[in-house]
Amino acid sequence: MQFHKDKKDKVLIIDFGSQVTKLIARRVRELGVYSEIITPEKADRLKNYNNFKGLILSGGPSTVTKKKFQSVPKKIFEKKIPILGICYGLQLISKIFGGKIKPSKSRREFGRAFLFKKKSSPLIKNFLNTKKSVWMSHEDAVVKLPKNFKAIAFTKDSKLTIIENSKKKIYGVQFHPEVTHTDNGKQLFRNFLFLICKIKKKWNVKSQKERLIKEIKHSVKKDRVICALSGGVDSSVVALLINKAIKKRLICVMVNTGLMRKNEFKYTYKVLKKKYGLNIKLVNASSLFLKNLKNVSNPEKKRKIIGNLFIKVFEKESKKYEDIKFLAQGTLYPDIIESKSSTGSKSSKIKSHHNVGGLPKKMNLKLIEPLKEFFKDEVRILGKSLGLVKNINFKHPFPGPGLGIRIIGNVTPERVKILQEADNIYINELINKGLYNKIWQAYAALLPIKTVGVMGDSRTYENICLLRAVTSEDGMTADYYSFPKEFIDEISNKIINNVKGINRVVYDITSKPPSTIELE
Ligand code: XMP
Repeated sequence: MQFHKDKKDKVLIIDFGSQVTKLIARRVRELGVYSEIITPEKADRLKNYNNFKGLILSGGPSTVTKKKFQSVPKKIFEKKIPILGICYGLQLISKIFGGKIKPSKSRREFGRAFLFKKKSSPLIKNFLNTKKSVWMSHEDAVVKLPKNFKAIAFTKDSKLTIIENSKKKIYGVQFHPEVTHTDNGKQLFRNFLFLICKIKKKWNVKSQKERLIKEIKHSVKKDRVICALSGGVDSSVVALLINKAIKKRLICVMVNTGLMRKNEFKYTYKVLKKKYGLNIKLVNASSLFLKNLKNVSNPEKKRKIIGNLFIKVFEKESKKYEDIKFLAQGTLYPDIIESKSSTGSKSSKIKSHHNVGGLPKKMNLKLIEPLKEFFKDEVRILGKSLGLVKNINFKHPFPGPGLGIRIIGNVTPERVKILQEADNIYINELINKGLYNKIWQAYAALLPIKTVGVMGDSRTYENICLLRAVTSEDGMTADYYSFPKEFIDEISNKIINNVKGINRVVYDITSKPPSTIELE
């Protein structure tokens, strides 16, 4: 499906491999302007820049101080489109226009730095008056201004922290305005978009709903669509959108893997069927999944088994319906951004994520991915405008392999039951105490060891339940949530008193990195 041929007021972000490039796109969209991320290679091949009113060059791990470095096609500087370089982007602009960049240990800055104003510029209006705290992450520094550029701001360790060529409308900043650690960084983007690029605010997620429904109708025509419904926000929003477009010609398949949260499967089915009239087929495959997971403790093996089984079950189910031409998927924008580091190497694989991406080739179905241009929080705005119940729309993310990767070691029906009970108490307590919405993702897990305890006057030898709660913006990085002591005390008691099989509760206090959000 083709989206947005018509979008004119948009911003192009060229990604040099920074961990936070996606945040640039989000900040721009939050300000009401559509933005797209592409690789430098794609930028090189791109012929038509007419639809873009602004270009942003991201940060990245590369260095312009070596002979070979990643660059941008020179033609972008001849288009009269305003350009903002961030971190590596600033260094690249400086290099191209004759400045000097040094790899300097004494000039490197990581973390908080204080920015001071040298000269006024539209870029720093209401952003920098005298002094400001910004977030830095660089080793190289620009030490000599490029030709026809002026210095706008500096820090103690880098004299050229913001530079501009006001005639050509090219700007560069050494710090990262896209991260929340930079105080009011959004104002800098606001200035770039509206004062410098003179873009009009046109992007609004809610207004995309009707367009998406129209496009689905147009693509599907009289055919039928099948969709794997997990009950998470992404697949639910996809199903509601398609249901609005083609009603009963959408067949939703819900596979019960037996690895979902307590009552989750029943609840989701009831709500989505009764409230929205979705055409849902239930498949109970829990014993099949548990049978195949017997004595498997390797995380990657578990992931593969669950992923492959899911595809098998779904495929078998879909064969029961004739004239299905489309498969709907809840692919999001972050899933399709090419994530290559600027050295050209693919980022190393940490875990094999479970999704239904393997399906269409085998099943010979065309794909419908109506959410592929949206971030998760934008999907939630869409969900809200479709009337999706809060319990689903604002549900924490839940991994495809479910409790299978939260029961460390062997997955048995007994351990699933123990974990479901503990997790249910934890999540309900978060909701009751008004903490659920402050946390990006929370869950309970079962560790593969038993420890000794004492209950009443007797010795116990039971499982350890681990609790995790993190704050995050997109799951790429995360901080553990600091609970008040009373909550920790209370939840530990409640789990041990109510769940037979657990005699110890621990709280995970690692961030990501170095850990990941899930344990496996
Ligand atoms: P990690 O553990 O990699 O998780 O820090 C980041 C986010 O991804 C979720 N996750 C998954 N989601 N299929 C999914 O749809 C998967 O296989 C999968 N594994 C992890 C995880 O819950 C967190 O939100």
